[in-house]
Amino acid sequence: MTQTSWFQNKHIVLGVTGGIACYKACELARELGRRGAIVQVVMTESATAFVSALTFQALTGREVKISMLDPKAEAGMGHIELARWADLILVAPCTANTMAQLAQGRAPDLLTTLWAASACEKAIAPAMNQQMWKHPETQENLDRLVRSAHIIGPDSGIQACGDIGSGRMSEALDIVEALETSLNRGPLSGTQVVITAGPTHEPIDPVRYLANRSSGKMGFALAEAANRLGATVTLIAGPVHLDTPTGVKRIDVETAAEMHTAVQASLDGIDLFIGAAAVCDMRPSSVSNQKLKKSKNDLSQITLVENPDIIQSVAISSNRPALVIGFAAETESVLENAKRKLTDKSLDAVIANCVADGEIFGQDTTEVTIVYKDSAQPLAAGPKSEVSKDILTTLSTLLPKRI
Ligand code: C5P
Repeated sequence: MTQTSWFQNKHIVLGVTGGIACYKACELARELGRRGAIVQVVMTESATAFVSALTFQALTGREVKISMLDPKAEAGMGHIELARWADLILVAPCTANTMAQLAQGRAPDLLTTLWAASACEKAIAPAMNQQMWKHPETQENLDRLVRSAHIIGPDSGIQACGDIGSGRMSEALDIVEALETSLNRGPLSGTQVVITAGPTHEPIDPVRYLANRSSGKMGFALAEAANRLGATVTLIAGPVHLDTPTGVKRIDVETAAEMHTAVQASLDGIDLFIGAAAVCDMRPSSVSNQKLKKSKNDLSQITLVENPDIIQSVAISSNRPALVIGFAAETESVLENAKRKLTDKSLDAVIANCVADGEIFGQDTTEVTIVYKDSAQPLAAGPKSEVSKDILTTLSTLLPKRI
């Protein structure tokens, strides 16, 4: 597998705080962009005294955000949306003052508010006078931040103030390389994952089709989570109205036959296959070129033929992935039915959920049990994004260990 940069297509908030090392943040913004990241710079007021916002705007192609209370900015992408948008918040340079605020959960400005409001990856590159860095309170703040953020640097050497010691911000390239190394180490790093999602549509005539109520949200949440955990992800999606998760390769299909072909073409070198699609079991045996007429009794004459079982074809193929995981949306005897599916289709596990009364379809939350051949593991209920992360973290422990 050719290793692409972790930063490819990632949303990065580059927080710039007020220190002389601000000039290095310009190079950092460029380097992140070179690696395919979409960079949104957020400056503190004091940072603007060192480097102009216009410089960062020119480097990133995006207007720099500074104030929390800017009605224009809030009307565009507000601070909470920006907190959700970010895959990584990197504060570089991070002053002693900002470190203290982040460590204590204070949120006096836009950057610190984003930090507190976002569940994304976080990193700081401290930059300060060597005496400030050595200060016991700064070191205490560092101890707190280590729990939730990657700390890069600082380097030692001659400082802008003339002192010699530790406190210089690391070079832009070193910061990016250090992050590549730590962020690429997710539990799925180096693995290739294919996920099917959504319903399939089986045409009857030019205006009608057979379908089901799948929204695709679970498969898309899984694709997003797999990417965040370090996998290279291909998402094969039936007709849905959902945005492609960041960094994920998406192939759109309409019918089960098209999904089958796309899956077969994507199997080479795959470690994990997850069939989250609600594939139509049957399709009309022929598709009419003309709209069928109720008056001619055409509709009652429709005959159905069985669609290929996509996941089963993956599970019994000669280049079977190490793990083939199915979904079972059941209205009754959920665990028994899931176990039967696991055996019938030669799967390694089935993610079972109850869809009685139409629950779960189209919802943003879910509750699932991972059913294995001889055991079952219920996971905590929650947003599909969180449940997806739990599912994939669990599955990652079953993958053969890589050298
Ligand atoms: O048999 P049932 O449709 O309930 O099985 C559900 C599991 O099988 C899901 O993982 C679904 O994606 C997969 N499936 C498939 N191809 C089919 C039918 C179901 O891949 N034709």
